[in-house]
Amino acid sequence: MERTFIMIKPDGVQRGLIGDIISRFETKGFSLVGMKFMSVSRELAEKHYGVHKERPFFGSLVDFITSSPVVAMVWEGDSVVTSARTLIGATNPITSAPGTIRGDYGVTIGRNIIHGSDAIETAQSEIALWFSEEELATWESCAKSWLYE
Ligand code: RTP
Ligand code: MG
Repeated sequence: MERTFIMIKPDGVQRGLIGDIISRFETKGFSLVGMKFMSVSRELAEKHYGVHKERPFFGSLVDFITSSPVVAMVWEGDSVVTSARTLIGATNPITSAPGTIRGDYGVTIGRNIIHGSDAIETAQSEIALWFSEEELATWESCAKSWLYE
């Protein structure tokens, strides 16, 4: 079973979208294995978005992520990394498809509501960055045999 790291960004929290976003992942059929509501330090935000360190938007991105609490989560399921990115939609909400989280709720790239790991290896390093092993629950959903053949 694959795992991915998902974060509801400060705008998603402030706009009251936590419940809706969690519901989309649950009803899709993925299992929550870790979740915490937290303020993000500059150090953590800079590590998380380290790949964008040289980009012109890096400073404002770190300011934004540390400006208000986020919901950090780990979700599990078949091909969850790719599927979560599909549920989330394209980076710029102006072009994200309707029905996706960004397509339904966002209008600008700097306020695009949610983060999802972009590859299996990235997911593994992001999960390790945000969660300790004890914060993750290994369990099996009773719906599993109705979700997978
Ligand atoms: P994320 O990492 O947050 O899930 O977003 P993503 O993979 O769809 O996009 P990525 O290229 O990794 O960009 C990371 C975040 O940086 C902000 N951004 N701002 N102002 C800009 O031109 C710009 N470009 C990117 C967005 O918040 C984007 O989600
Ligand atoms: Mg990214």
